[in-house]
Amino acid sequence: MKSIVIKQPNQLEIETRALPQPGAGEVRVKVKLAGICGSDSHIYRGHNPFARYPRVIGHEFFGIIDATGEGVAPSRLGERVAVDPVISCGHCYPCSVGKPNVCTSLVVLGVHRDGGFSEYAVVPARNAWVVPDAIPDEHAVMIEPFTIAANVTGQVNPGAQDIALVYGAGPMGLTTIQVLKHVYQVKQVIVVDRIEERLKMAQRSGADLVINNLQQPLAAVLEEKGIQPTLIVDAACHPSILQEAALLASPAARIVLMGFSSEPSSLTQQSITGKEISIFTSRLNAMKFPVVIDWLSRGLIDPTKLITHTFGYQHITDALELFEKNQRQCCKVLLTFNP
Ligand code: NAI
Ligand code: MN
Ligand code: ZN
Repeated sequence: MKSIVIKQPNQLEIETRALPQPGAGEVRVKVKLAGICGSDSHIYRGHNPFARYPRVIGHEFFGIIDATGEGVAPSRLGERVAVDPVISCGHCYPCSVGKPNVCTSLVVLGVHRDGGFSEYAVVPARNAWVVPDAIPDEHAVMIEPFTIAANVTGQVNPGAQDIALVYGAGPMGLTTIQVLKHVYQVKQVIVVDRIEERLKMAQRSGADLVINNLQQPLAAVLEEKGIQPTLIVDAACHPSILQEAALLASPAARIVLMGFSSEPSSLTQQSITGKEISIFTSRLNAMKFPVVIDWLSRGLIDPTKLITHTFGYQHITDALELFEKNQRQCCKVLLTFNP
C-alpha cells in the first residue's frame, strides 16, 4: 500500500509499505477520503511539539472496514466508518471524568501514531464509528473537524439568548459558526477575521454580522452597535485575543479558548472577575463522534460549505502548498484514496 510519510521536518515521501494486519481489538480501514488540517502542515514543517518522525500524518479520515482483528465482530466488515483520532486509556483521572481527549496517556492518530493519509490504516475498533448510508462520503470525512466545534460549544451550553462572537473564520471558526447558529440557534453570531474571502464564507455558514478587523477596529464597531457578546470563541488563537475578548464581553459571559501558543496572554483579574467571566478551554474532542453523526443525520450542519478543493493523494505536496499559501481561496482540502 501507499502511505504519505513525513520522514523528518520538510521531508515528505509517498512510501510503499506492507499492508498492516489489525491486532486484537483493531480494525483495518480502507481509506476513501481524508481532510488536510493545519496540524498536518505543522507536523510537515516541524512545528508540532508532540510529533515524532517518521509519521504517517492525517487525523481526519473516512473509509470502509476491510479486516477485523481478534475479538472484533466479523459483522463489522464492510462498515462505512469515520475514525476518531483520540485514543485514551479509559481509567486515568481525565478519562474517569469524561475527558478522554486529555487522557494522561493520550495518543492521537496522525500525531503520536500513524494516521490516515494512507491507503489503509489500522485503528482501535471502538474509534471507528459507523456512518449511516444516508450521510455521503464528503460529509463523513468532515465529522472530525465538526467534533472540535461540538467540543467547544459543549463546554458552554449555548442558548437562544446568546450573542456569540467568533474570532477567526478558518475551518475551526466556520464549523463553530454552523453549530452555534444551526444546532444551538443562538440569537446572533458575529464573526471577525482579517481576510475578506473568509468573512464571505462565514456569511455562507450562517454569520449574522461579519467584521474585518484590519479595516475597522472591532471594539469600536461593537460599541457603536451596542453589542456585548455573551459567548466568545477564539478560533484565531493569537495570544493577544484573550485580553480584548475580556474587554468586549458582557458581564457573565463565557470565553472559550482553543489555541496552543506558548506565548503568554496578559489579563488583569479585574477585567474578568469584575464581570464574573468564565474562561473555558477545549482540546480535540471527548466522544463527540456520535453527536456530530446525529447532527448530520438531522441535516443541521452542512460540511460541504467548507470544502474548497479535492486532490488525489499522489498530489499531496501540491495540496499542502495550496493549503498553506492560499488562505483566501482555500479552506478544507480533501485527499482521495482508493477511488
Ligand atoms: P486557520 O489559520 O485556517 O484560521 C485562523 C483564522 O483566524 C484565519 O482566517 C485568520 O485570518 C484569522 N485570524 C488570525 N488572527 C486574527 C485576529 N487577530 N483577529 C481576527 N482574525 C484573525 O486555522 P484553523 O484551522 O481554523 O484553526 C484555528 C486555530 O485553532 C489554530 O490556532 C489551531 O491551532 C487551533 N485548533 C485547535 C484545536 C483544538 O482542539 N483546540 C483543533 C484544531 C485547531
Ligand atoms: Mn483537524
Ligand atoms: Zn486515560
